[in-house]
Parts: sequence; C-alpha cells; structure tokens
Amino acid sequence: MSMVDLRSDTLTQPTRAMREAAFKAPVGDDGRTNADGRGEDPTVNRLEDMAAEIIGKEAGLFFPTGTLANVASVLTHCRRGDSVACDPDLHIVMMEKSPFMDRFGGLKKVDYRRDSAEMPETASFAAACAAPGVRLACIENTHNFAGGTCTSLDRAEELHSAAKAKGIPVHLDGARIFNAALSLGVTAEALAACADTVQFCISKGLGAPVGSLLCGPKEFIREARDTRKLLGGVMRQAGMIAAPGLVALEQGIRRLSEDHENARLLGQGLSGFPGIALVPVQTNIVMLNVKGTKKTAPWYERELVSYGILCKAMGDEHLRFTTYRGVTAGDIETAVSVFGKFMQEKEAELI
Ligand SMILES: Cc1ncc(COP(=O)(O)O)c(C=O)c1O
Repeated sequence: MSMVDLRSDTLTQPTRAMREAAFKAPVGDDGRTNADGRGEDPTVNRLEDMAAEIIGKEAGLFFPTGTLANVASVLTHCRRGDSVACDPDLHIVMMEKSPFMDRFGGLKKVDYRRDSAEMPETASFAAACAAPGVRLACIENTHNFAGGTCTSLDRAEELHSAAKAKGIPVHLDGARIFNAALSLGVTAEALAACADTVQFCISKGLGAPVGSLLCGPKEFIREARDTRKLLGGVMRQAGMIAAPGLVALEQGIRRLSEDHENARLLGQGLSGFPGIALVPVQTNIVMLNVKGTKKTAPWYERELVSYGILCKAMGDEHLRFTTYRGVTAGDIETAVSVFGKFMQEKEAELI
C-alpha cells in the first residue's frame, strides 16, 4: 500500500538543484567572525543577506532550526525574571511540552487571547504588553496550532503599534511567513515590518533540508550571534546547508500556491462528515476538529495509518494534514477517497 504522508511540510525532500548547490558551495568557518562581526563562510553570509533583504530587515543570522532561532531571539531580547506576552498556543510556548521560557530563560509569561478569526485580540494583546515586567511580545504568522491561520496585515500593524506604545518589541515567529503573505496577498516584508525581529524557516514549505533565519536590526543580530554561540548553535562549514537554502529562497516561495491549492481541495474533500468540523483552510495546513465524534485525534492518527494516510494529532481534538512539494493533486484525491471510506467503515464507532 502506498502512503500519503501529510504529517508535516518538514518532510519536503531537497531538489536536485539544492543537492548540487550543497556540493558546489564555497565554505568557511562560520563560527569565526571578522571585524564586521560576520562569519567566515561566504555561502552562509549570502544566505543571511538574501534573507534580510527579502524580509526587509538590516541583518540575518542562520540557525539550524526555527526552535533555536526563536529561543535565541527571546533570550537576546530578555533577561532572567522578565515577562513575555504570549498566546498560550504559540509554538514557542507549546513546543515539546517543555516550556523553555521558565526552564532555560527564567522568564514568565503573560497571556493574551486570540479572537474568533484566530488573530491576536488587540485589546488583550495591549493589556499583556502593559503588564508589569513584560519586555517582549511574541506573535506567530501563520499560526500552526490554530491550523495555519493568518493574522492580517491591518491587525499585525495594530498589534505592533500597541506594543510600541508600551515600548515593547515584537518577535514574530514567521516559520511559515511566506505562506501567510501568499494567503493575505501582501509581501512577507510588509508582515515582517510589523515586528522588530522575525524568524522564518527554510526547511518547511520552502523545501531546504535544514535551517531558519533570524532577521532584525544589525545590533540585535550581533548580540543574537553571541546568544547562538552560548546555546551551541554555531555551525562551521555551514555553507553546505546554507546553499540549498539559497535555492529555497530563489525557487521555493513562488510554488507555495500549489500547496495552498492542494490544501484547499483536501479541506473540501475532508469536510461534511458528521461530528467533524473543518477549520477554514487559509494556507498549506488542513485542520479537522474531531471533538464531535467519540474518538480522539490520536486515535484517528493511529487508525488512518492502516488506510495509508499519515497525519498528525495536535492535542486530543485536532487532526492536522499538511501539504508540501512532493504531495501531488493525485495524492490529495487518494487521501480524500480513502478518508471517505474510513469514515464510512468506522461510522458506528464514531457517532
Ligand atoms: C510556528 C512554528 N515555529 C517554530 C517551529 C520550529 O521549527 P523547527 O522544527 O525548525 O525547530 C515550528 C515547527 O514546526 C513551527 O511550526
């Protein structure tokens, strides 16, 4: 049985152009810095410059993962004992169920709410920014745990103004910022302008094998370079993995519309089953809420394997399906018809 693997866009295989770029990349020791504070790997420097330019910030810094880039950003913005304004479902809060903020950073959280459109509610966000000890506000666009939903440019501008009014910088986890930009019909640069620092992943829908970029003001990035070093995030001849990242930025952004179209079709095909609610599809993530059935999301995840569909339970109620390069329109048709068969065969157990 062939499997349709919709667990995550991190499953994207590097293209031939990426593999060739890795092979040919000029490299140096990125852990050694010159007088300008730049590393000695020319390919990493090219990637950092290209990332900063695309996202409209002064400087960029290459990280092995989005997690490390977010952590380094928060730890550069804050000091032990500070508080961070967060939505409790941010990846940075939820990751590995191990809250790094208090465990490693000695940081506290002040929660803000999302509204019914899954965007941060401005009043709640502003109140969190005004809470005593808050030194940073974090937002996420697209929002992974909410189902790949987007915060509009207008709302992002409102949030940034609210934070600025309290003198609080905003860090944007833009792991999938290019998906958000495509869905909203704006540039990633415009969305990034609503934050002081931005992290985005090249290893997800853009298709590079490894990596994330943290972008922001030159002085902040210089400090973040030290934080990265302390966290063990220095990579040496990292041009080998930065080179596929350059290809990802040059070629990966423009094809995301294919993933969005596949996700739209998948969402259409997976909707309408009793007890199952579809979160409106905005990007490359399809999220089903299975609360109205007798089974939990991890049960669906397990059972669907024997039908040839791999997906991911997000907590007990949500089931996530993600599209990416390598998932074809044919795979979507297969997934839809298999899911229909599954729901028919399991109906008695579910309702
Ligand atoms: C919104 C968001 N931020 C950060 C990350 C972390 O990225 P990485 O897996 O590269 O650590 C993820 C991973 O899925 C994510 O979805």
